[in-house]
Amino acid sequence: MSSFQIFLRRALPGASAAFFAAALCLAPPSAAAQNQPPGRPWMNKSLSPDQRADLVMQQMTLDEKMNFVHGTGWNGLRPDAEIPKGSLGGAGYVVGVPRLGIPGINMADSAVGVRLAAQGGHYATLLPSVLGAACSWDPSALFLYGDVIGRELRDIGYNMSIGGGVDLMREPRNGRNFEYAGEDPLLAGTMVGNLAKGVQSRQVMGDIKHYAFNDQETGRTIVNAEIGQQAARESDLLGFQIAIGIAHPAGVMCSYNKDTVTPPGGTDWSCENDYLLNQVLKKDFNFKGFVLSDWGGTHSTVHAALSGLDQEQPGSQYFGDPLEQAVKSGQVPQSRLDDMVHRVLRSMFANGVIDNPPVTQVPNPFQGRDDAEHIADESIVLLKNSGSILPLSSSVQSIAIIGAHADVAVLSGGGSAQVDSPGGNAVRPHPGASYWNEHIWFPSSPLREIRKQAPNAKIEFNPGTDPAAAAQFAASSQIAIVFVSQWMSEGMDRPSLALPVVDENGTKVNQDALVDAVAAANPHTIVVLETGGPVLMPWADKVQGILEAWYPGIGGAQSLAAILFGQVDPSGRLSATFPQSDDQLPHPKVPGIDLKPASHRHFDELPPFDADYAAEGARVGYKWFESENKTPLFPFGYGLSYTTYEFSGLTVDASAHTATFTVRNTGSVAGTEVAEVYAVLPASTGENAYRRLTGWDRVTLAPGESKTVTVDMNPLTLSVFDVAKNAFTLPSGDYQILAGSSSSDTPLTATMHVAE
Ligand code: BGC
Repeated sequence: MSSFQIFLRRALPGASAAFFAAALCLAPPSAAAQNQPPGRPWMNKSLSPDQRADLVMQQMTLDEKMNFVHGTGWNGLRPDAEIPKGSLGGAGYVVGVPRLGIPGINMADSAVGVRLAAQGGHYATLLPSVLGAACSWDPSALFLYGDVIGRELRDIGYNMSIGGGVDLMREPRNGRNFEYAGEDPLLAGTMVGNLAKGVQSRQVMGDIKHYAFNDQETGRTIVNAEIGQQAARESDLLGFQIAIGIAHPAGVMCSYNKDTVTPPGGTDWSCENDYLLNQVLKKDFNFKGFVLSDWGGTHSTVHAALSGLDQEQPGSQYFGDPLEQAVKSGQVPQSRLDDMVHRVLRSMFANGVIDNPPVTQVPNPFQGRDDAEHIADESIVLLKNSGSILPLSSSVQSIAIIGAHADVAVLSGGGSAQVDSPGGNAVRPHPGASYWNEHIWFPSSPLREIRKQAPNAKIEFNPGTDPAAAAQFAASSQIAIVFVSQWMSEGMDRPSLALPVVDENGTKVNQDALVDAVAAANPHTIVVLETGGPVLMPWADKVQGILEAWYPGIGGAQSLAAILFGQVDPSGRLSATFPQSDDQLPHPKVPGIDLKPASHRHFDELPPFDADYAAEGARVGYKWFESENKTPLFPFGYGLSYTTYEFSGLTVDASAHTATFTVRNTGSVAGTEVAEVYAVLPASTGENAYRRLTGWDRVTLAPGESKTVTVDMNPLTLSVFDVAKNAFTLPSGDYQILAGSSSSDTPLTATMHVAE
């Protein structure tokens, strides 16, 4: 079989599964829907979700309505919390109206797979990190990602996902970056929008979070994010706008932090910010679903209700009795309460959770693993391949595998995105579910999968805890592969982009020193990174190969081995810039990181502080680097393939907003290139010091094959936000359109003239 055929064989099953899932209506209508009980006109599916919601509301009492606007406590999140009747013990539960046939809402965290599965004895697939999946630049892979989550939520009985993080990577040291989709609003919005759409294709309500500017974890419950309105709309808010436009999610979760967006100015918590919730989200983005607070992120009753919050989570401190009193006294109009309830109910109808409630069954771990592997195949990024050390030949004689528990496992990220590992933590097993801030390793063994690829080679493992011993071990092998890791979690940021000094059972391991030592002993050293985000690589010049695997998920080892041996062409391209140093960032230190609470949970005890996001404004990531003339270690959009590509013949159509050009595979193996299109706006905008991603296409090419692609340029990314008009406008003038293989490698340029 040729490498092209192998590549297609691996690429197609997952992708087609995603499309079939979308095309078929999945499960048959439930018995409840077929035998519509008399007197329930809202079960008439020919009516719109809004009409159906209104019909239910005509029958609801005030108490029943009140149940819809708050949660029922911490449920499964706190060991001492009560689990109400009907709750599955996930992150949240909202009481339904059984007498009217309206189910409760069972919500589960599910950023990278379903959380808290272990406590019910369920299996849940660990997917690659969202940041990694975004490196696929493949909307169908992200749809599949959401499809896996929706499928497994349904199997366990949940009807709402609270994943879907789309906060931009303003702060590459943010502990939650692995849950988000990188630094560009078009890429992140498109990827996460498709993820949430995939969830909802399984008739499970989806969510997009954390709205807005929750771009760091340090002091997340007290920090005030400051930014100008134009920059806000062209960066983080644009990411949300694009994701919401694609997915039409049931929920948008407002974030813990405060925001000051100037003008209109004023500082308000995200969950009671009239500008962000009422004006931007509900009016400008036309969001029809409901705004739910992050867990404990509600701060008031009347102000929050009037500012656009629809549902307090997880409890009822503000939206329970106090809201009922406020409605009765007229401080909050009845129409506003009805609007909140309507938004929840119409989302339930729109997503089929009333017509086709979940039917529990055992989640399919085999399909989950295959899907996770398919996504990992497209997520892993080849950063360096000097002397074409990769792909390795199956006739290689010896490989020294070193570090990061690569004999047994791959790493996962922590916090509310934690998925429970099948069989428990593969590295430090203990009975029961995982606990907060435990570093969880999943049983996907790179050593075993690499051995399968080269059955006759001598392939041994060294833990890498002693750099000198690891170097000695590596010296006698033909090839050395060093695995390094960076664990990240909600509730923390890393103080620096440097690879952490990891603590392996009491032994401190300086991972940079480990790579240095091995590279000095073996000239054929390859580094595999399992990181939550970008890291520094002071040793980059000393090694021959670098592969960024992110947190690669339960199929990670298979995917890594397939890429290392060339069964799969690496097609991942960076969804975020890798800086050379912390000093290159807009904030050389994470804002507030020097404040020292006992733990992140105690930040509330400190005085609030500001994160000055106006410093970089809309120039997040590569835009900052270009406009400040800084050269990163690896640029946004970058990634190598096992073949080479040539770009030619760019033409642009100014009225259709398209860029057309040809991509040719000039190498000897099949591969997939991400053809990226950037735009520099006319000088009159004052925003011409940097390029913006405006569109892309993934192009799979046999050796020697050429394809002419026409890339749609998203008009929002060609526009500027005009604060006076409160609208995006397409400025007239000359745009420079650039096409190529990364944000800093664009061999093709053309001018696009937009007339007055
Ligand atoms: C996180 C949310 C999460 C919620 C429920 C919060 O701490 O910020 O992302 O959905 O907890 O677990």
